[in-house]
Amino acid sequence: MASADSIAHDDRLPTSPFPDGWYFVAGRDALRKQTLIEKTWLGQDIVAWCDDEGSVCVADAYCPHLGSHLGPTTGGVVRDGCLVCPFHGFEYDVSGQCVATPSAPAPKNARLKLFETEVMNGMVFAWWSGNGQPPYFTLPLDTRDEDGWTAVGLRDFRLTTHPEYTTENAVDIAHLSFIHGYFDVHQTEPVTVDGAHLTSAFEFKRERSFLGRKFRFEVSAVTHLYGMGFSFVDITEHTIPLRSRFWVLTTPLDGTYMELVLANQMQEVHRVSRLIVGLGFLPKRLRARLSNHMMLEGQVKDVRQDLPVWNRKVFRSRPVLSNADGKIMLFRRYCSQFYPENEISTRRTLKTVARL
Ligand code: FES
Ligand SMILES: [Fe+2]
Repeated sequence: MASADSIAHDDRLPTSPFPDGWYFVAGRDALRKQTLIEKTWLGQDIVAWCDDEGSVCVADAYCPHLGSHLGPTTGGVVRDGCLVCPFHGFEYDVSGQCVATPSAPAPKNARLKLFETEVMNGMVFAWWSGNGQPPYFTLPLDTRDEDGWTAVGLRDFRLTTHPEYTTENAVDIAHLSFIHGYFDVHQTEPVTVDGAHLTSAFEFKRERSFLGRKFRFEVSAVTHLYGMGFSFVDITEHTIPLRSRFWVLTTPLDGTYMELVLANQMQEVHRVSRLIVGLGFLPKRLRARLSNHMMLEGQVKDVRQDLPVWNRKVFRSRPVLSNADGKIMLFRRYCSQFYPENEISTRRTLKTVARL
C-alpha cells in the first residue's frame, strides 16, 4: 500500500502544489500579540510582523547579510517596530530596508525580499506567484472593517490536501446534501467567472441545534472565489434572521501539508424571530458574539466531515460526472489560470464573463 507521503507528491496534486494567489498569513491580532511570527508558506520560509503604527510586513525569512533565519525560534525579535537579526543585529523596518547595524552604517542594498500584503477584516494576506509576477488581481474591498459586525473568529486545521480540492466545494452542490445533510440544495444563479473572480449562489435548508433546541434554518449563500486561497461566502439565514460572512482560507505550506483557516463574522441582529426566544433576551452585542461562536462551530463540524475525504482524495483530471453535479469543469478551467506553468493566455480567455 502506498504511504500518504508518496501519494501526496504524485497522483494527488492537480499540477503545481503552489498556485498563484493571495494567501492567508496570520490574524492581525496574533501578529500584534506574538510580535513576530515565522511559518513555512507556499514552500518558502517567511516571517511577518507589524510596527507600532500597525503596518504589516511579510518577508522572506533569511537575512540578506549572511543568511541567518530571522524567525523567533532562531532568536529574531522586533524592537521599536524593526526586525532585528539574531546573528549580527542588522535591523529591518517594515519596508524591508536595513536601517541600522550595531557597528557600522546600514548597507543601502541590504533589503529583505517582501511579499505584497493586504489586510482585510483583521486578516493578513500576502501575494504568491510561482514565476514572480506582481499581483494580477485584487481581493474584494467591500467587506473591510465595518460597524455593526462582530470581530472575525478564526479556527485553523492542518491537512494533506491541495487548495483546488477544498475550493471545489463552492460548486460541488451534490456533496452538500450527501455528506453534510443539507436539503433542498439548489443553485439560484448561474455560476459566473470573470477573470479571477468566480461566484456561485445557492440556497439550502438544514437542521441545526441552537440554544439546546433543533431548528430548521433556511439559508441563501453566495460564494466568491478570488483564486484558490481565498473563498468568501455571504450568508443570509432567513429564520432568525441573520447575516454572516464566512471565509475559507486555504494555504499550501510545503507541498504536502495545507493550512485551512475558517473565519466567520456576524452582523448584529436587531430583532430575532419569536421562534428563537432565548436569543431575544440577550443584549445585541452579546447575541451577535454568541451567534458567531455557534455559527463557527457549525462550520467546524462541516469541515470535520470533509476532512477525511480531502486528506486522501486523488486528482481526477477527467472526472465521471452525473447530472446532479455542479459546474465542476467550469471550476477546473477557472483554476487553470492560477498555475504558473500555464500561459497568461488562459487568464485572457477567462477575462470574458462566462455564464454557463
Ligand atoms: S546574518 Fe543577519 S545580521 Fe548577519
Ligand atoms: Fe463541504
